[in-house]
Amino acid sequence: MAKIFISGSSDGLGLLAAQSLMNMGHRVVMHARNEERKEALIKKFAKSENILIGDLSKQNEIIRLAEDANGFGKFDAVIHNAGIYNASAKDIFTVNVLAPYMLTCLMQASQRLIYVSSDMHLGGQSHLEKETFPTNQMTYSDSKLLLLMLCKAFANKWNKRYINALHPGWVPTKMGGKGAPDDLKKGYETQVWLAVSEEAAVKVSGEYFFHLKKSNYHKQADDVELQAKLIAHCEKISAVQFNL
Ligand SMILES: NC(=O)c1ccc[n+]([C@@H]2O[C@H](COP(=O)([O-])OP(=O)(O)OC[C@H]3O[C@@H](n4cnc5c(N)ncnc54)[C@H](OP(=O)(O)O)[C@@H]3O)[C@@H](O)[C@H]2O)c1
Repeated sequence: MAKIFISGSSDGLGLLAAQSLMNMGHRVVMHARNEERKEALIKKFAKSENILIGDLSKQNEIIRLAEDANGFGKFDAVIHNAGIYNASAKDIFTVNVLAPYMLTCLMQASQRLIYVSSDMHLGGQSHLEKETFPTNQMTYSDSKLLLLMLCKAFANKWNKRYINALHPGWVPTKMGGKGAPDDLKKGYETQVWLAVSEEAAVKVSGEYFFHLKKSNYHKQADDVELQAKLIAHCEKISAVQFNL
């Protein structure tokens, strides 16, 4: 039985991945943004006594969430799933990029780290070539490119761990909308597979998957100089060090 933490598991793909993993017999620690969302989750989902709270748009709450998560010891896998699409540029950067950075640095080291990116990252810009890093111009696509870049940087640093990213497909969740064309089940099975499978195919690092297969990604994510700049920005903004 593996122990897994999933950010943003009160709804959508995070909730579905949590349910799938629990049905397989794994222990899942879930996460909701606040007490109200936690209560709603408990009402519809009996097995959810292990639910942490924290608003990922607030740095102090991200730090507290990491501390609370560390109360469960080391997780076998962490799925960085929480994400937002329709929000201010600042919140998009904080929730989609800075929170995964801070949680990764502050939580005890899991053997497997999984970052839920998006194929929209292919149309994103890193903004890292610029003199100043414009978090106030951040789009969703930009944030998902930066998240993939972070994943690659972590994979380069901790090369004995399995650290990967994925695109879940355009699926009908609150974010994807009712008309989303892709298969909802396929939308969470890759992160579940990366979290617990013993297949050789998941014991890799720095890869980007779509529906259980490696997929094409924005090659800028492999640029180690840009990765270093991104890490430096995250360190500066959060005061959380990468070299713990
Ligand atoms: N759906 C798609 O078509 C699609 C496509 C590509 C990538 N993705 C990615 O897949 C991941 C999951 O998306 P989804 O479709 O499942 O979205 P969703 O249904 O909107 O669920 C997002 C989850 O993240 C949580 N969250 C958002 N902002 C938060 C905050 N500030 N603090 C704490 N929790 C927060 C949400 O909590 P609340 O319930 O409280 O809002 C919810 O549990 C995201 O990273 C998304 O970018 C989705």
